[in-house]
Amino acid sequence: MSVLSGKKILLGITAGIAAYKTANLVRLFIKSGAEVKVIMTPASKDFITPLTLSTLSKNPVSSAFYDKEEENELWNNHVELGLWADYMLIAPTTANTLSKMANGVCDNLLLATYLSAKCPVYFAPAMDLDMYKHPSTKTSIEKLQSFQNILIPATSGELASGLVGEGRMAEPQDIVAFIEKDILSTLPLRGKKVLITAGPTYEAIDPVRFIGNHSSGKMGFAIAKTAANLGAEVILISGPSHQQIQHSFVKRIDVKSAENMYNAAHQYFNMVDIAILSAAVADYKPKNVAHQKIKKKDATLEIVLTPTKDILASLGAIKKQQFLVGFALETNNELANAKGKLARKNLDMIVLNSLQDKGAGFATDTNKITIIDKNLTESSFGLKSKTAVAKDIMNYIVTKINA
Ligand code: PMT
Repeated sequence: MSVLSGKKILLGITAGIAAYKTANLVRLFIKSGAEVKVIMTPASKDFITPLTLSTLSKNPVSSAFYDKEEENELWNNHVELGLWADYMLIAPTTANTLSKMANGVCDNLLLATYLSAKCPVYFAPAMDLDMYKHPSTKTSIEKLQSFQNILIPATSGELASGLVGEGRMAEPQDIVAFIEKDILSTLPLRGKKVLITAGPTYEAIDPVRFIGNHSSGKMGFAIAKTAANLGAEVILISGPSHQQIQHSFVKRIDVKSAENMYNAAHQYFNMVDIAILSAAVADYKPKNVAHQKIKKKDATLEIVLTPTKDILASLGAIKKQQFLVGFALETNNELANAKGKLARKNLDMIVLNSLQDKGAGFATDTNKITIIDKNLTESSFGLKSKTAVAKDIMNYIVTKINA
């Protein structure tokens, strides 16, 4: 999965011959999972049709301040478009548009949107070699860079004029790769490795029965996805769960029992910077596992249980630089119990959720948490989707590790 997955990209097209390549650019963005909207300068329609771009982007293409539709005039809200985008890309950027952007000229929808955009703006110039070399063009580029706009440099090659030199718009696949790399370099967890445990564990009684719990894995998978979206390389150790995750930064390891989870966690713990243990690990397992299915009898059946290894406590005992996060699932004396676990297991922070709170805990799509850090500072959050809770947890961790 690309870092562009789920991102909103506003593509501005100006009137250069390289505009014909934007059909492929839109396709590549869509393929990477992004949502694309296109704005064209009126003159760029001579180089590629709005129909091609609306078909590929699956969104209407805007180019004028007003669209005439039957008797109604519809205003294209440039402010709304500018705020909609996570990223804006102007490709190709002609010398004319470059100069207008640098000087705050606003005589078309694309320029008005550019001036309204709050997101990072990339621009990919395309023009003839002497135009690209001209001091005026260089000044415009430098001015845009001083506005924190990001240059995707033109490349050398054969130009529309027949001359050969610098001025070709970067190829669509190189533009996408450039933006992906640039985004990645700004993500707060780039270069960090995160270990996450999720879901329940199953402790075998016999070949057909087990002791388990109601954990669905939703909370842990949401944390894994959020950490990966923040640029981390994630090792997700999951007990039996129907949750799915597709992300190129996530390596999923499926385990069954507490013992399997313990072994997998210890295999990877030395390599990681952060470990978040959200799994609901069985505290006890049958002392002896029957090799054959236990037959039904009229007499009472007693199963002797023995404690499992506490994965979190064992990692707390050997941790070096790792930022170690535990969960506490409580039903009573919540804060005191969570603080006890924080200290006993040598954690950097603990995430408390209580089964007393409606919509919190097992299998729900929501959760309600209180984060307690090493200094016993408590931060409480309202009931939210597990995705939003995962973001709160990861943002909290990012602040802590950067403090
Ligand atoms: O999976 P969902 O349906 O989305 O539900 C999410 C959740 C409720 C399971 C999750 O939010 C949660 O609270 N996970 C921790 C559940 C739990 O086992 O809590 P605990 O208070 O019993 O354990 C304390 C901590 O020790 C936990 O981090 C746990 O992973 C860890 N532990 C416990 C026992 C053990 N043998 N090894 C451990 O590592």
